Amino acid sequence: MKIIITEDKASGSKKAFDLFKGSIANGTKVIGLATGSTPVTLYQQWTESDLDNSNLISINLDEYVGLTPDNDQSYHYFMQKNLFDKKPFKHSYVPDGIKAIKDPEGASADYNRIIAENPIDLQLLGLGQNGHIAFNEPGTSFDSVTHEVKLTENTIKANSRFFNNIDDVPKSAICMGIANIMSAKEIVIMAFGDNKADAVQKMVEGPVTEDVPASVLQQHQNVTLIVDQAAASKLS
Ligand code: F6R
Repeated sequence: MKIIITEDKASGSKKAFDLFKGSIANGTKVIGLATGSTPVTLYQQWTESDLDNSNLISINLDEYVGLTPDNDQSYHYFMQKNLFDKKPFKHSYVPDGIKAIKDPEGASADYNRIIAENPIDLQLLGLGQNGHIAFNEPGTSFDSVTHEVKLTENTIKANSRFFNNIDDVPKSAICMGIANIMSAKEIVIMAFGDNKADAVQKMVEGPVTEDVPASVLQQHQNVTLIVDQAAASKLS
């Protein structure tokens, strides 16, 4: 794993954006994207740039079950607002959280087909404080593909900052599995802030274990971790 330590989130996001631009110039066509607070600065830099992504395909990691794309807490909406409105892709895929209400297996199978038809060249990831990647919580099988995830109380609590009421936070999500993520040719994972320091340390230096989903990245051939000094503070 290549590790880049930057002073702060802005410079880390700039590094990630440069990496994206280089990868696109070298032929990357399908990009896996993440939501959450981590990539917001990167997306901002992207929308302010002259990078043309109109020939590229994007595939997002996850979506809440039960939120319509126009719900301002859905990941569809997040991506529209932060990136797609200003920089539309040729096609953007996000899991279908509405189909998943009645048919989570069908919605998951659809998404696995989409990923099989559009192999991911470059996958962007954020890191959960408990080491999760996408909504793959500790204990998720490394062999998992797209599936419905019942969110843990911790994740519901962490995400409740975006909702008026903790009861409004959806209880499940449709999410790419670890095997889908590991199938990407190249992975860029970013983590900023001291609340990520433990997870970064375990991901990089701990044993590869399903108890720390991100530790699986130690087994991928082409991963770049971009962290600020605070998130890197527990690395030896
Ligand atoms: C987002 C996602 C999550 C986040 C992670 C970190 O699509 O799948 O795994 O990357 O929870 O969240 P933030 O960036 O808000 O700290």
